[in-house]
Amino acid sequence: MGELLALDDVDVSFPGGVHAVDRVGLHVRAGEIVALMGPSGCGKSTVLQVAAGLRAPTSGTVTRHTDRIGYVFQDPTLLPWRTTRRNVELFGELDGLPRTERRARADRVLTAVGLAEFGHVRPARLSGGMRMRVALARALLVEPELFLFDEPFAALDELTRHELGDELLRLFARHGFGALFVTHSAGEAVYLADRVLVMSPRPGRIVGEVAVPFGYPRPPELRSSPEFAALVGSVSQTLVRAS
Ligand SMILES: Nc1ncnc2c1ncn2[C@@H]1O[C@H](COP(=O)(O)OP(=O)(O)OP(=O)(O)O)[C@@H](O)[C@H]1O
Ligand SMILES: [Mg+2]
Repeated sequence: MGELLALDDVDVSFPGGVHAVDRVGLHVRAGEIVALMGPSGCGKSTVLQVAAGLRAPTSGTVTRHTDRIGYVFQDPTLLPWRTTRRNVELFGELDGLPRTERRARADRVLTAVGLAEFGHVRPARLSGGMRMRVALARALLVEPELFLFDEPFAALDELTRHELGDELLRLFARHGFGALFVTHSAGEAVYLADRVLVMSPRPGRIVGEVAVPFGYPRPPELRSSPEFAALVGSVSQTLVRAS
């Protein structure tokens, strides 16, 4: 399958001298989900921002083979004065998508994330999990080929996290995008990803990679299987060795 994203030898230093990211190389192909893990402050969000084109690397190269990128921030960052539907339409508006097309897409993605009946409601009246779904729908509206997530489920309870993870895998099965996501949960990484990349403490380098052998679709029962537990254990050990 085609390559969507390539970071080669990417270094990021911030003004003031913080060396955040050290010669990171990572590639994402279409139809692949890659998880990025590592200790707090090691440069994961910075890598994701560089991947999205929101931040330029200090050196190294970034190649994106698509400009249809969906980005989900750690915080849902919804506009409180806009309804759910108008929040979802936001990037379509910025892209100059005609109103009828925007509306049709908003209906489709709101249905896909299970919020068809909440289009007219403002964010203040939604739960945390529902707001996260709105952020997912907003990113899907651009029909992304490359999906980037920064710990989108971190603030949610375990059940909601599992539900949204399954939702995400269904969307992945339907749309076949490539994805790169940051998580602090080894279980979430193994359940969702094909590959788990592990970074060292700052300056973050990629020091480990764990391949996940389970195919898609992944049944929720996978989470309680011994094979799953063993792999989560090996990712956790890689993290410990890296730090
Ligand atoms: N705009 C900035 N200016 C200066 N330093 C920054 C800036 N953004 C991030 N840093 C520093 O770069 C390092 C990497 O930050 P980053 O946010 O990428 O870490 P992270 O791995 O995402 O951490 P966490 O898991 O806590 O979210 C940190 O030490 C942080 O203090
Ligand atoms: Mg971060």
